[in-house]
Amino acid sequence: MFNIENFDIKLETNFLGRNFIYSEEVASTNSYLLKNTTELKHGTTIFSEYQSEGRGRLKRPWNSTKGQNLTFSVLLNKNLHKLNPNHISLAASLAVSYAIENLFQLKTDLKWPNDVLINNKKVSGILLESSSKGSDIEKIVIGIGVNANQTKYTGEFKIQPTSIKFELKREIARERLLSEILNVFEDLISQLIKSPKKILSEWRDNCRMIGEAVTIEIGEEKKYGIFYDLDANGFMILKIGDKLEKITSGDITVRR
Ligand code: BTN
Repeated sequence: MFNIENFDIKLETNFLGRNFIYSEEVASTNSYLLKNTTELKHGTTIFSEYQSEGRGRLKRPWNSTKGQNLTFSVLLNKNLHKLNPNHISLAASLAVSYAIENLFQLKTDLKWPNDVLINNKKVSGILLESSSKGSDIEKIVIGIGVNANQTKYTGEFKIQPTSIKFELKREIARERLLSEILNVFEDLISQLIKSPKKILSEWRDNCRMIGEAVTIEIGEEKKYGIFYDLDANGFMILKIGDKLEKITSGDITVRR
């Protein structure tokens, strides 16, 4: 059972998670915030013990055993004109990665666009969605799934899952992990508003795939090249022969 007091006592934010919604079950925490028509405060966070229709990138399902992991979403509805959504999702993966390293001293690695890996296995995924009014984005929802205490996974995965408990060989306090992710994420969002350059550079420093020969799968299509860099918008630059190509979505694997 998630103890809200233990979470709250370690929360050091100004806005992220200050309005906290705890739920036993929802279809998807992202859908909850996207569909909600009442005015929810900037930074509202919904955490659910279980999602019956949790979803991931590229229309994939996100399955997470009840009561074992973190499945939550954060609402941003202020300063959106000062923020690039791609930067926010990169910052979210960086926040998860820093939080895990700060609390558990586990080495993490980032996989473009926004997976967090431990020992080449996926421990967290991020799904950013938004809604617009006319040509303006009115809200951004960042959905974060972290495998915390689940140790058994069934089904087919693009990349093998792992959890913090599996890597650490002990149960972890989900409340402390959630507060740390929000503490770090809020700090990174503030830095993004001032200058995204530093966050992009920190992201690069934590992605070992940059410089490697990779395959990128975009639907049915496969491209082969060198993961050359991230561009200023957080897209991937793939070097194919002597040409540089911008990749906006897909699944990367390193060719060994
Ligand atoms: C991915 O790696 O494909 C992204 C996974 C995102 C999962 C989270 S769990 C909380 C939030 N609600 C959802 O339905 N999805 C995101």
